[in-house]
Amino acid sequence: MTKDLSRCSDDDGISFRHFRIQDYNAVIALWRRAEGVGLNESDSRRAVAAYLRRNPRFSFVAERDGRVIGAVLCGHDGRRGYLHHLAVARRYRRRGVGRQLVNACLAKLRKAGIQRCNIFIFAKNAAGMNFWRHNGWKPRSELRVMQIPLRDNHLPARDCPC
Ligand SMILES: CC(C)(COP(=O)(O)OP(=O)(O)OC[C@H]1O[C@@H](n2cnc3c(N)ncnc32)[C@H](O)[C@@H]1OP(=O)(O)O)[C@@H](O)C(=O)NCCC(=O)NCCS
Repeated sequence: MTKDLSRCSDDDGISFRHFRIQDYNAVIALWRRAEGVGLNESDSRRAVAAYLRRNPRFSFVAERDGRVIGAVLCGHDGRRGYLHHLAVARRYRRRGVGRQLVNACLAKLRKAGIQRCNIFIFAKNAAGMNFWRHNGWKPRSELRVMQIPLRDNHLPARDCPC
């Protein structure tokens, strides 16, 4: 699915557009409420603004009646694509919003010539794992994520899977 969702509106009145830094307060509130989304110092307004500048028009929000009801961050490093913090407000789940947010990102990554996309997910997020599996994503169980902090302002690693 390569449809550009940046101006799309569906039958439920849910529309999709690019994530702008002006959405930050609404999106961080959504992420804080979403089980399975871990937040850390990389989720400050400043850090998200930098991420959006570095990956312009790769990240999306879903809106209904002018309120953000879904969001995802997306970017790439020239080799792999990455999705972070996909979340849909509880009452709007199971209506295709999550899938459409993901598809919008994957279409952008494909257009940029990126061949594969990775996500980070907490091992204990069984519902999240089921979502990704159901939508064709395969766990790379032969791999582990390793990490080293580069600054001393970091929060404990358990606060975010990436
Ligand atoms: C994961 C999440 C974003 C899914 O959003 P959603 O809008 O409900 O998903 P969709 O309605 O687009 O679902 C797309 C498909 O996946 C299926 N699906 C959705 N959630 C699922 C789940 N937990 N387990 C299995 N399948 C699931 C849907 O039934 C649908 O299937 P279909 O295409 O065969 O009809 C949402 O549940 C959420 O915000 N969870 C909390 C945050 C989280 O864990 N995010 C992932 C972080 S890695």
